[in-house]
Amino acid sequence: MQKVRFGVIGCGGMGSNHVGYLPTIKGAELTAVCDIDPEALGRAEQKSGAKGFLAYQDLIKSGLADAVIVATPHYFHPEIMIYAFSKGVHVMSEKPVGVHVKQAEMMNRTAAKHPKLVFGVMFQARGNAGYRKAKELIDSGEMGKMLRATCIETAWYRSQAYYDSGGWRATWNGEGGGVLLNQCPHTLDIFTWLCGVPRRVMAMVKLGARHQIEVDDEVCAILEYDDGVFGQFVTSSGEAPGTSIMEIAFDQGLLRVGRDSVQFLRNRVPVFQHLKTSKERFAKPEAWNISLPMPKGGGGEKHAVITQNFVNAILKGEKLIAPGVEGIKGLSLGNAILLSGVKGKPVDLPLNGNVMEAFIKEQCRKSTFKKPKIAKKVADDMASSFH
Ligand SMILES: NC(=O)c1ccc[n+]([C@@H]2O[C@H](COP(=O)([O-])OP(=O)(O)OC[C@H]3O[C@@H](n4cnc5c(N)ncnc54)[C@H](O)[C@@H]3O)[C@@H](O)[C@H]2O)c1
Repeated sequence: MQKVRFGVIGCGGMGSNHVGYLPTIKGAELTAVCDIDPEALGRAEQKSGAKGFLAYQDLIKSGLADAVIVATPHYFHPEIMIYAFSKGVHVMSEKPVGVHVKQAEMMNRTAAKHPKLVFGVMFQARGNAGYRKAKELIDSGEMGKMLRATCIETAWYRSQAYYDSGGWRATWNGEGGGVLLNQCPHTLDIFTWLCGVPRRVMAMVKLGARHQIEVDDEVCAILEYDDGVFGQFVTSSGEAPGTSIMEIAFDQGLLRVGRDSVQFLRNRVPVFQHLKTSKERFAKPEAWNISLPMPKGGGGEKHAVITQNFVNAILKGEKLIAPGVEGIKGLSLGNAILLSGVKGKPVDLPLNGNVMEAFIKEQCRKSTFKKPKIAKKVADDMASSFH
């Protein structure tokens, strides 16, 4: 194959962005677009010159695309990925890969059955220099044992107007969750990429605390990792100016991880050694503020970086930056926090997919939320969709 012919499925906000940068991707050609909304489809056809389809099955069956980017509301991601793989078409799913872990498990089983097809997920934050540097340091073993993992991400501010702008947003039936499922997947992905998935979660979660929505917008969780290491995860979509803090303490020192920078306070003597051997009662080990060179590359449009890598994976076997099968990690943590917070009980991981699916279905059944009229068609389509 010389070129990867692409179809974009779902041409709303994010899908239009993919349509816009795809011509800049080396080895890619945009040949097909799909949206259930004729107006959105018409705009995408006009912008791209690609052939339009109202149903994703027709796009995939047309033979016009070797790969699809799925940018529909989340409930459709698993269904479309599984269908595309059954027809031999590579898939890049928007985040989150699905609404709950059972869907992600189904996608991962499908991927395992088709090892020649490439499954990617749009975790463009993995292209950021700060996160890549932290990952490299942690994976090298240089930081030693993790002692604490803290993530406070409250910069995902959204107004009521945002929530009212799409009928599927922030509803159990249309979206399947709130800040944990829509805004946080990048944060949850980077946090689990760097620190792993905890084994236990105890959370407090508020539904519609700051907005007129039925899903989560305020979250505070305590995490327990293997070896009893503690962590914290806090998020909100109703705080301003908000903050973004990712701090990971290790035997060898402290990492303050930002998108494009990492502050490394290096203990001259590792904590465990110092604790046991120091004759001082209060003095901490000397800490050096290390200036780290940031990795090169990965600049520019971050979605394009991930899509270029996806194309290279198909054409040249390049290693994926964001494999779709890893989408389950952050999703599991987000699901566990939601479940724990709403039920008021600790939740152990790995999470039981059937339990999580039953929980989401229960929320959908109990929902009495009225969707804004502006997006009624999308809302109606969503309500009858696969989930
Ligand atoms: N990676 C990122 O930075 C990023 C940013 C924004 C959104 N997203 C993700 O992209 C997805 C879409 O979000 P959005 O903000 O673009 O939403 P949106 O509402 O603006 O667009 C969704 C589009 O999908 C269409 N659609 C709905 N069901 C469909 C179906 N079955 N087949 C084909 N088209 C269908 C709708 O008509 C709409 O045009 C979400 O999963 C979201 O989490 C990712």
